[in-house]
Amino acid sequence: MKVDGKHYRSIWFNDAEKKVEIIDQRWLPHEFRVVALDNRDDFAAAIRDMWVRGAPLIGATAAYGVAVEMRDDPSDEGLDNIWEFLHATRPTAINLRWALNVMRDLLKPLPPEKRAEAAYKRAAEICDEDVECNRMIGVNGLEIIKQIAAKKKPGEVVNILTHCNAGWLATVDWGTATSPMYHAMEAGIPVHIWVDETRPRNQGAHLTAWEMVHHGVPHHLIVDNAGGHLMQHGKVDMVIVGTDRTTAHGDVCNKIGTYLKALAAKDNGVPFYVALPSPTIDWTVFDGVKEIPIEERDDDEVTKVQGKLEDGTVTRVQISPDGTPGGNPAFDVTPSRLVTGLITERGVCEASKEGLAGLFPEKAS
Ligand code: MRU
Repeated sequence: MKVDGKHYRSIWFNDAEKKVEIIDQRWLPHEFRVVALDNRDDFAAAIRDMWVRGAPLIGATAAYGVAVEMRDDPSDEGLDNIWEFLHATRPTAINLRWALNVMRDLLKPLPPEKRAEAAYKRAAEICDEDVECNRMIGVNGLEIIKQIAAKKKPGEVVNILTHCNAGWLATVDWGTATSPMYHAMEAGIPVHIWVDETRPRNQGAHLTAWEMVHHGVPHHLIVDNAGGHLMQHGKVDMVIVGTDRTTAHGDVCNKIGTYLKALAAKDNGVPFYVALPSPTIDWTVFDGVKEIPIEERDDDEVTKVQGKLEDGTVTRVQISPDGTPGGNPAFDVTPSRLVTGLITERGVCEASKEGLAGLFPEKAS
């Protein structure tokens, strides 16, 4: 997508510098900074400390992390080590394990001297594949938005609520939840987005809102608790969120607070869709609440918030009393019964074993 008229992806290989570069998302929306990642420690820090975040982008970053390590240590031991090292950075988004497995399966049979070149090539392909998946999610999700628009008066706005950032910054490009929104805009359907601020890290306020501003999408930032009220008053036509891991039976793990939005949507008859590329499906787990590990993050994220002072300085301030501990589960699981449909690159399906197996028969057991 474009930033001030220039096209960016969230990660890319800078051919001239021979370096992997990313947008350092810790500074958005106030500062747009690009940084190079040059060794295994850079990659681990970037994923763990959320310079990059969002399930698909975490996977793409890990793939390039393996490539950089193959440049530095292409031995069998180096390959096994980097898998473990990067896998330990964040536990919930399954795209991390998926990308590491893709890289290891490709590289293991190759002689060490061939590994670096093959790894850089495959990492670039993983990025391109993610872009294409997300484009297709947009094409498929657009059909749902068209159906909702068709039930409204001509020109009437379709109001979509989203949680967290499942936009292009969470992927390589397009985004998952945002891709149908961007496609709807391109198709001339008037949309308006309710952007949940998404405490504690405020990915909605910091990232989704920034994307909306830069792409010219009409939107309002709302506090996380406003969604239910807006739904009761007919101000939300649909919800679209992303996911960090979806089980083979259609349970959806996503940023903390997603479950409450799904409950409110169910109570108000608002369709609740989840947009995901297929690497986000974990075919080895079935019951999301019992089986998906939920990342517990630093309580600092709850007791402090980051923002810009009137003089332009970006800083963090404490919002709770000294001595109050924070609790910080970063994700929750929305059971499949609350999900209206899954929007994937292959089409839209029911959030169920049968629905997913219908779209991905080669994966279902
Ligand atoms: O903790 P984060 O910012 O990595 O969490 C991201 C999300 O929960 C996104 O909604 C999810 O990864 C889907 S991204 C396309």
